[in-house]
Amino acid sequence: MTTIKFNQHLNRHPFLLFTISMVIAIGIAMLIFVLSMKPPPRDVRLMILFLFGTSFVTTSLAYICYRFDLVGRFPSVRWGILVTVVLTIVLIFPNVWMIARLMFISLHDLQLVAVLLIFAGVAATAFGYFITSTMTHRINNLSQAVERLGEGHFDTRLDARGSDEIAQLSHTFNSMVDSLQRIDAEKREIEQTRRDLTAWVSHDLRTPLASIQVMIEALLDDVVDDKETTERYLQTSLTEIRHIGRLMDSFFELSQLDTGRIELEREYTSLHSLISDTMSRMMPQAERQQIQLAGQVAEDIDPVFMDATKIQQVLYNLIDNAIRYTAAGEHILVRARRIGAQVQVDVHNTGTHIDVEHLPHIFDNFYRGGRSRAQSADGHRGTGLGLAIARAFVEAHSGTIRVESQPERGTTFSFVIPAHD
Ligand SMILES: Nc1ncnc2c1ncn2[C@@H]1O[C@H](COP(=O)(O)OP(=O)(O)OP(=O)(O)O)[C@@H](O)[C@H]1O
Ligand SMILES: [Mg+2]
Repeated sequence: MTTIKFNQHLNRHPFLLFTISMVIAIGIAMLIFVLSMKPPPRDVRLMILFLFGTSFVTTSLAYICYRFDLVGRFPSVRWGILVTVVLTIVLIFPNVWMIARLMFISLHDLQLVAVLLIFAGVAATAFGYFITSTMTHRINNLSQAVERLGEGHFDTRLDARGSDEIAQLSHTFNSMVDSLQRIDAEKREIEQTRRDLTAWVSHDLRTPLASIQVMIEALLDDVVDDKETTERYLQTSLTEIRHIGRLMDSFFELSQLDTGRIELEREYTSLHSLISDTMSRMMPQAERQQIQLAGQVAEDIDPVFMDATKIQQVLYNLIDNAIRYTAAGEHILVRARRIGAQVQVDVHNTGTHIDVEHLPHIFDNFYRGGRSRAQSADGHRGTGLGLAIARAFVEAHSGTIRVESQPERGTTFSFVIPAHD
């Protein structure tokens, strides 16, 4: 954190930074000069004057390069760095030449220094070339990766080893692509659901609407005039309208699930009362189908930290299924108990079981097991959303839901949610 502030500070004052560097350079040069050569005061003065003069030229040049971003105008980073190296050497060269002349070094020695300087310059340029090769190679990789990403290849990743700026950039790039890939997958999933939904709506909504239309037209055109048929038509229309209403409710809940917007309003509530309330609401439905509905709730179950409306919906969907898919004379038992820091609720019914081939799909959107496709006695046709909604609500509570089903034992749906926050 501090480092970032420090760098920002320096970047805001590039000229100051460069001037400080030059003063330090002069200081070091003078120290070495005085200590190693023990020059007379006149030479020291000359040296200081000269160094300040050249450093002024150097600083001004560097600032011009910085101010007009001259290095950034080269076609490649490599060229920018190489030209900087060459420029540095070109600047050093007259400095050394001048100092040598001032210090009355012999022409022979001066030529030798010049040769060594040229050698050092070429060696530094070659060295710079190799160093910049690795850098430009990595930058090229980065630019190719961005290009691939632009073409929609979300599986593109960069080698982010190291800790320099390019490695950090690669790391940031990888994290960004991770997020993009996740968003893309979610988008595809939503797209798929939307397609499913359109197919489902056109199929399941058109049928009841068409039959209502036919019956009302028959009634209006006096095709049907006996009281019994009229009543039957009206009753069937009402059933169809209820079915459409249920479809719409599920449709709304599904849209909430698909956008991942399940907002829970959790608080400590009595699960015991919630189960009793739901069961008494469903009792008439069970009695009508001559099914025995019983409950068994452990004394120590309360309180439970949950969204009561959502958990009631889960209970409703499970008990509703148990009633619908079991035959007259069978039993349903709703059991709730505490297991450590969690609560488990089982909805068990005798008489029906789900075939093994259906079990893995039972919680999928729109999945309806074989038999339930047929319209039941009360005119109910499943939408195949009840269990998908139940699972989403349980999972929103950080819980799990599962099913066990065997021909002789019947079917048990169980869900577990944490009892506390
Ligand atoms: N207790 C059960 N016994 C037997 N089969 C069941 C039971 N519960 C669910 N199923 C099967 O699982 C399928 C999916 O159930 P789900 O509740 O998701 O949809 P649905 O009941 O068909 O429609 P709805 O959206 O109206 O609830 C059902 O169609 C049924 O075949
Ligand atoms: Mg159902």
